Amino acid sequence: MTRNIAVFGTGYLGATHAACMAELGHQVIGVDVDPGKVGQLAAGELPFYEPGLVEVLRRNLDAGRLRFTTSYAEAAEFADIHFIGVGTPQRKGEFAADLSYIDAVVEELAPLLTSKAFILGKSTVPVGTSEALRRKVHDLAPAGKSVEVAWNPEFLREGYAVQDTLHPDRIVLGVDALNPGLVEEVVREVYKDLLDEGIPFLVTDLATAELVKTAANAFLATKISFINAMAEVCEASGADVTVLADAIGHDARIGRRFLNAGIGFGGGCLPKDIRAFMARAGELGADQALTFLREVDNINMRRRTRMVERAKDAVGGSLIGARIAVLGAAFKPDSDDVRDSPALNIAGQLQLQGASVSVYDPKATENSRRIFPTLTYGASVNEVCRGSDAILVLTEWNEFKRLDPVSLVDVVRQRVILDGRNCLSQQDWVSSGWTYIGVGKPAHGPEWQDHWANSAIERQVESVNAE
Ligand code: UGA
Repeated sequence: MTRNIAVFGTGYLGATHAACMAELGHQVIGVDVDPGKVGQLAAGELPFYEPGLVEVLRRNLDAGRLRFTTSYAEAAEFADIHFIGVGTPQRKGEFAADLSYIDAVVEELAPLLTSKAFILGKSTVPVGTSEALRRKVHDLAPAGKSVEVAWNPEFLREGYAVQDTLHPDRIVLGVDALNPGLVEEVVREVYKDLLDEGIPFLVTDLATAELVKTAANAFLATKISFINAMAEVCEASGADVTVLADAIGHDARIGRRFLNAGIGFGGGCLPKDIRAFMARAGELGADQALTFLREVDNINMRRRTRMVERAKDAVGGSLIGARIAVLGAAFKPDSDDVRDSPALNIAGQLQLQGASVSVYDPKATENSRRIFPTLTYGASVNEVCRGSDAILVLTEWNEFKRLDPVSLVDVVRQRVILDGRNCLSQQDWVSSGWTYIGVGKPAHGPEWQDHWANSAIERQVESVNAE
């Protein structure tokens, strides 16, 4: 059955959700306080880069199933299902999440709800938030307790947002345990096509649904930091973390996905979510349970400084005057998002230490320039690599994975490549005369092979002697 749906917030989450709900055949209105975003989306343009989404957006605008507005009154009048997809960023100077955008939606929407309606939260929130919102809605809405509040966390990844929304691994719905109401039935109608596909559907209480999301992101962050910690040990011992990940990943209990060592995780979700999780656990008196996440965060941040150190070593011990080409600025490929991007952070640190840094990213240049206006940005790989002393690949875009080492030989000043995502073929680069420095593996190349092998052996000898 076709339902009338409103989606509040038109960022990555909200815009994708609105377009995908229309793709499922529902009538959808996307709501945002930013008239610029609303105007762009209504005109079939995306305010951010997300593969495949623009087609879904345009198809549904054209079919008359999707529109955008800044008017809460219009949305409240039109829809009885209201998804909340606004951001919950990290509070300035604190670990906790800033819930002001969610509060603003509820405070403006609830007084407009005069008849039976459903509010479904999708944003990532600290456990306990939806229960507080449920009470607030019942106080503020003229329809009172007939407005049901439930939590339906979103698990989409940037770069795969459409796929993840239309074919998620699971659907989780948190409902008021004492008064479950009708929301489960309504949600089954909204996601009918997905449920018919056999996608697992878990109905829980509100707190569990909120926690499922934060726990999932905390686990993913931990998995990445685990392999990055192994990379540190591999670097100290001369072992190879990629082979190690392949080997342990064959154990189905461990699994190979999300075991890619590199310069660590960034973006608008994992870093702030683990911090908000620690902050909330502290408020609940359960801080000890999550102290390990502080270490997960530390390992992750260390990746960035380590990369800067390796780049410094690679150009002869000092960055002053070195010309560094940085390939990649987005926090991951197929995204123009540079929020807490390890790549951009490393580029910035290199520049602060005296290097002359040129950055190229296929999609994220505009966003990067806004955050780091002092870096130099180029329009192509060749442009930023010209005359460089070292190339750093920091985001694993396909364009970089496919680079031909031979074609760059005459472009650079020194043939040194640092692969911050272990995404290049070491053999191809070394056989074309490059010094190749990956993450968690010995460097290879004319001068480095011996240097790294010797220092790893020296360290091993020292530690044996010390025993
Ligand atoms: C993450 C989660 O994966 C989603 O399930 C979740 O819905 C989303 O956050 C969210 O909370 O909204 P996303 O931030 O889009 O999604 O990015 P990921 O694919 O998780 O990557 C995060 C970071 O980890 C990137 O910087 C990536 O380069 C890094 N990463 C990922 C690694 O360093 N190694 C890996 O093996 C995998």
